[in-house]
Amino acid sequence: MKFGFFDDVNREYVIETPKTPFPWINYLGSNDFYSIISNTAGGYSFYKDARLRRLTRYRYNNIPLDTNGKYFYIKDGSEVWSPSWKPAQAELDSYECRHGLGYSKFKGVKNGVEASVLYFIPSSDNVEIQRVTIVNSSDSVKELTLFSFVEWCLWNALDDMTNFQRNLSTGEVEVEGSTIYHKTEYRERRNHYAFYSVNASIDSYDTDREAFMGLYNDLSNPQAVELGRCSNSEAHGWSPIASHCKNMTLKPGEKVELVFLLGYVENEQYSKFNDDGTINKAQAKALMAKYGTSEVVEAALAELKHGWEAKVGKMQLSFSDERLTRMMNIWHPYQSMITYQFSRSASFFESGIGRGIGFRDSNQDIIGFVHMDPEKARQRIIDIASTQFEDGGAYHQYQPLTKRGNNDIGGNFNDDPLWLILSTTTYIKETGDWAILDEQVPFDNDTDNCATLFEHLKRSFYHVVNNLGEHGLPLIGRADWNDCLNLNCFSNNPDDSFQTTENLDGKNAESVLIAGMFVLYGSEFAHLCGLLSKKEEATAAYEHIAKMKQAVDAHGWDGEWFLRAYDHFGSKIGSKECEEGRIFIESQGFCVMAGIGVEDGRAAKALDSVNEHLACEYGIVLQNPPYSKYYMNLGEISSYPPGYKENAGIFCHNNPWIMIAETKVGNGSRAFDYYSRITPAYIEHISDLHRTEPYVYSQMIAGKDAYRPGEAKNSWLTGTAAWNYYAISQYILGIQPDYYGIKVDPCIPSEWDGFTITREYRGVKYQIEVQNPSHVSKGVKQLIVDGSMVEGNVVPLLEKGSTHIVRAILG
Ligand code: BGC
Ligand code: NOJ
Repeated sequence: MKFGFFDDVNREYVIETPKTPFPWINYLGSNDFYSIISNTAGGYSFYKDARLRRLTRYRYNNIPLDTNGKYFYIKDGSEVWSPSWKPAQAELDSYECRHGLGYSKFKGVKNGVEASVLYFIPSSDNVEIQRVTIVNSSDSVKELTLFSFVEWCLWNALDDMTNFQRNLSTGEVEVEGSTIYHKTEYRERRNHYAFYSVNASIDSYDTDREAFMGLYNDLSNPQAVELGRCSNSEAHGWSPIASHCKNMTLKPGEKVELVFLLGYVENEQYSKFNDDGTINKAQAKALMAKYGTSEVVEAALAELKHGWEAKVGKMQLSFSDERLTRMMNIWHPYQSMITYQFSRSASFFESGIGRGIGFRDSNQDIIGFVHMDPEKARQRIIDIASTQFEDGGAYHQYQPLTKRGNNDIGGNFNDDPLWLILSTTTYIKETGDWAILDEQVPFDNDTDNCATLFEHLKRSFYHVVNNLGEHGLPLIGRADWNDCLNLNCFSNNPDDSFQTTENLDGKNAESVLIAGMFVLYGSEFAHLCGLLSKKEEATAAYEHIAKMKQAVDAHGWDGEWFLRAYDHFGSKIGSKECEEGRIFIESQGFCVMAGIGVEDGRAAKALDSVNEHLACEYGIVLQNPPYSKYYMNLGEISSYPPGYKENAGIFCHNNPWIMIAETKVGNGSRAFDYYSRITPAYIEHISDLHRTEPYVYSQMIAGKDAYRPGEAKNSWLTGTAAWNYYAISQYILGIQPDYYGIKVDPCIPSEWDGFTITREYRGVKYQIEVQNPSHVSKGVKQLIVDGSMVEGNVVPLLEKGSTHIVRAILG
């Protein structure tokens, strides 16, 4: 069952009922100021950091679901309704929500009144624009009252939810004209304030929640709205809010348009206050003047759309199946940009207070967006590398506001360093910016202790070499990519964190996943050394890689698939000898992507085993059989009920590893089949089962052993975004940027006739048409660039600004 449809022309998903199976959200903002907004206008705003600079309050995991947002109420006689259905929740005559790239639009109609609200954040300012349009489409005069509503959060979102003994006494506001300023804590150390304005006169306002709401009412029926007016309340402590109230009389056919602004301002210390002690409002006023009219708003929206067009326009597919084209041309690039921006910090499953920017997560995010915004990718790589330790290890996370490593989480996730090699080499292949390797980058943010980025990559490589276990395989540390395989945790105390507790010294447990990663990304490093003419370094690196391959051959192969790990006692994990958890996905993906066993048939065998034991209708589960009880030697993985999360859920992030692995053995049909099992546009028709947004990936879909297989959770912020985009574009469609040109190496279902991709690469536009006259899966027989045959399958670098026609004929 569906709850809406894709509007590809406008690059929107159109939701036709407010009662979706879960709130379906969108993200606004692309620089420093951000909002999350659901299909009923729930959500919140923040500046840079969802924990430390939260502007508006949100109540996670509340009842009813999705509580609090940027809301509007319309009072029409005795009836009260909201254009986004919530919060009033009155039945609407019609409702529509359009989530587009960086904006969301609502349209509610009731009793002959049409109310639309457009929400977006312009690319250049720290302000959310809310344009409200009300049309009287009835044939009688309408006396309406419009109310706005936001509830201020007292900046630090964690403190806001916990420290009531203080916070209920600190709230402060100022009101001037139609603008409500929120200035809690401005009197002391904060140099920032927020404001909420409208470009018209108002009839009344409220800034005190109790005055607006009534002590025992809720968001669906605030007292002020029922009364039809606010009481000009001024918050002193308790819970500051901002609500404007405006009366309007609309003749039949008449239309009113209002521009509301929710903004954030930082002042210099010396100019914080006016002479009378009030806040210096100059910057807020400048923003209000700038966005004072509907025309300017329209122009800012056009600019925003243009910016997104330019981004997604870097790679566009034309193909016979619209589900694939809409993923490639709209939703893959969009979700990849969003996961880069927010890492794993703020969604409707991530509270914005828990997790900052992850070392491994963000390095992987780079591969999904580097072609759209190479400057941001460069900066992110430097920021991440700046938190690396001298020994090559890494802080697992850093806080976006401070860009410093998070001491509470620490390090010792031994896969972390290798992802820096993936991000940096992918970046150079896309941009040709070799100079990034010479950048001086600090260790642990200590600017007195820097080395080149190349040196950081080398330390990443050697961190693995220097931390091997008794089988010659990499020590796992607290966990590798699988955060829940905690082989040194040994916790029987429910108050311990699985991620940060290490009860054993970590000198035994080994990871075959990291071994595969090392062979793959270690080889990338060695290859890079070769390209840089660092011959000795390259030779030394290749020797370590050869040894690792031998270790995998000797101790990492289980007969029909690759083992997953050795635990603290040296027992196998992910082996036919195990009672549960006999086969895991990650090591199959990484060992095969690294090429291990491709020549001798083990790779194909491992992938057949995946197909037999792990693949199911809704995707490929992480491991099987699931753990039915808690194993202290395995940690969090066995804490989940069977079929969920890392315990045999479909952890979408690692499915593309198998897709790519299938392309390594030439199995394009299987690769694409796996792709379509989890890809949003292909499973839109089961939105009722899937529950989360049908336009983006979720981290997890419940696996075949779960209570409700096919049900997804944790949408938006997942490594799946970048990886699935990477898998489909670079390995299935096969458009692969390389150091000295674009390689064309598709691996597709043999029945496909071909496809065309336009790809901007280093300032050159390539129109690449892949033709498949002999109906094969793989192998470019002829490459023709602007009518001339080219040897091999790499399209050479051509002159910046030029456009070229490439024809690749498979056969
Ligand atoms: C989740 C993992 C996540 C980890 C991070 C675990 O509970 O299952 O997916 O990466 O927490 O803190
Ligand atoms: C989510 C985390 O963000 C990611 O880093 C990790 O690899 C997966 N969970 C798997 O545990």
